[in-house]
Amino acid sequence: MFDPVEKLKDHLRCPSVSTDSKFKEGMEGSRRFLESLFSDIGLSVEVVDTELHPIVLARREGNPEWPHVLIYGHYDVQPADPLEKWNSDPFDPVVKDGRIFARGAADNKGPQMAHIAAVAQALEENPELPLRITFLIEGEEEIGSPSLRPFLESSKDAFADVDLVLLSDTLSPSKDQVVVTVGLRGIVVMDLEVEGPRSDLHSGLHGGAVYNPVQALCEICASLHDENNRVTIDGFYEGVTDVEDWERDELAKLGADEAVYRETLGVEALHPLTGYTPFEATRYLPTLEFNGIGGGYQGEGSKTIVPSKTMTKISCRLVGNQDPKTIGERVKQAVLDRAPKGVSVKVEMGHQGAPYLVTPPGRPNSPEDMPGRLTNAFEASTQAISEAFGRPPLYLREGGSIPIIADFKSVLGLDSVMIGLFLPEDNLHAPNESMNLEVLNRGIQASKKILLSIARHG
Ligand code: BES
Ligand code: MN
Repeated sequence: MFDPVEKLKDHLRCPSVSTDSKFKEGMEGSRRFLESLFSDIGLSVEVVDTELHPIVLARREGNPEWPHVLIYGHYDVQPADPLEKWNSDPFDPVVKDGRIFARGAADNKGPQMAHIAAVAQALEENPELPLRITFLIEGEEEIGSPSLRPFLESSKDAFADVDLVLLSDTLSPSKDQVVVTVGLRGIVVMDLEVEGPRSDLHSGLHGGAVYNPVQALCEICASLHDENNRVTIDGFYEGVTDVEDWERDELAKLGADEAVYRETLGVEALHPLTGYTPFEATRYLPTLEFNGIGGGYQGEGSKTIVPSKTMTKISCRLVGNQDPKTIGERVKQAVLDRAPKGVSVKVEMGHQGAPYLVTPPGRPNSPEDMPGRLTNAFEASTQAISEAFGRPPLYLREGGSIPIIADFKSVLGLDSVMIGLFLPEDNLHAPNESMNLEVLNRGIQASKKILLSIARHG
């Protein structure tokens, strides 16, 4: 068996930033790494070309009567910027205080390595293991998985006999308390541009005569929420579904503390929709966020102009049965309707993904027709996590998005078992990203036990 930490280091040395074409070689390096690791552990590897970043598939075939688990992961990472905030090179991993530091350590190369190492160990110890396994590791998760959905649609037959999806790309609150994620928010993003006069103007000559585009944009933005932080767009909350009592009980067990949360974030007050705790708001409600704003003079000193143009980026997180296309169109229309005369507003839609919910077995609203192997997988997870982490998992929805998980369900009819293996202090998408190595080791044990148990139940 290979050393999981050493292998993880090798993977983290590949700068696989999917959004920036400068990192093409890093993307290739990451694929080559996965190809050789998968073939070393005896799987047959296929690299599927797409319009952008290829998909890596690795299979352990076998008797068609054996259960078949699809393990999902992504080999792309977010950009490492701002580089000056890192204490070490983001693509030269460092182990310190029981953690491994590098871009992608937690999101998603570390958690993904837990499953690869688990499979390697399970097969080494049980060469006859009656389990079929397909790894699907994509390179476009961080840019909305544009190639994966069409790939799933065109290869439904290849996945027809998969029983369930297993992955680790979600959060757990601490190294002693794992969460099995049972809900992800959907997402729709867009760019807004507000254009006023043909060019920047002298604000002494023309200020007071024209509609300042920055003012117009700020007015539009400010009008999108009311004082209770409710989004003021008609139909924005359509499709939000009820939360079950058992979900509230699980959330209560999390014991999340508002004061601690405020402290961690460095804010004096939180601002969830009135009537909701922040921990409910991030899981159960849709949001409309401004991700950035710009335009006009941003340099040192002052510059007395009326700028010609200004822009913002918006992302909406969606829940329950909300349809990203419908909600995205409503936001776009609301923005256009609110544009004052004298400026022109353009909205360009970006990527989108649907929300996902799954109810584990044994709950009042569990589906009666849940396939036996999915039921087994959830039960195996509860057991395996209790053994490997010393405490049973909590079953919670999560605020983040992994758009392809809803597509696995809508295109292939497959549900996902999501084991959270990154922690709040792991700095995902931020400088000094890291993964806790104890979580990695416990994750390997948990994943191995889950796979053995699924195989044993047949
Ligand atoms: N692993 C995250 C999703 C995540 C984050 C789940 C936190 C649970 C808690 C994933 O890699 C990610 O960052 N997804 C993006 C999706 C987007 C770019 C389409 C996200 O949520 O912003
Ligand atoms: Mn991510």
